[in-house]
Amino acid sequence: MRRWTAAVAMVLFAASVAAAEEWRAPAEAKATKNPVARATGLKDGKAAYDANCAVCHGSRGKGDGPGGAALNPKPKDLADKVIQGQSDGELFWKISEGRGVMPPWKHLPESVRWSLLHYMRSLASKK
Ligand code: HEC
Repeated sequence: MRRWTAAVAMVLFAASVAAAEEWRAPAEAKATKNPVARATGLKDGKAAYDANCAVCHGSRGKGDGPGGAALNPKPKDLADKVIQGQSDGELFWKISEGRGVMPPWKHLPESVRWSLLHYMRSLASKK
């Protein structure tokens, strides 16, 4: 019974997070370190990004992919400091969970999701 209660509470929590304007990851998710080595991650991450994310976020992560044009809200510019300023763990959690029109990516192996983080870091604006 307690498990069910916890599951229901988690669903309600997820719904309330989705409704909130600011998208925040739980503290323990934020602190998680990327276990994938950078060299491997960059290569695997680019392949996964091109296959799954570029359609909305654009080939360079600018949020200008053809699939994102009609969405509200628009896909985020992944190179922006608003995104780059977040920890790997935080972004990993958001990519895994999704929100609204941003799909959840839990079906991708964890190592692929961490690899995406390495690739996303390489997209950071050099300003
Ligand atoms: C169907 C279009 C679509 C696809 C495909 C997609 N995204 Fe998104 N993404 C969005 C939208 C829309 C938002 C803004 C969601 C919001 O703010 O509620 C977003 C937001 C994000 C954010 C921002 C989180 C924040 O702090 O605001 C990250 C990071 C992200 N996406 C990464 C990815 C990655 C990595 C992939 C591929 C595995 C991906 N997205 C695939 C549409 C998409």
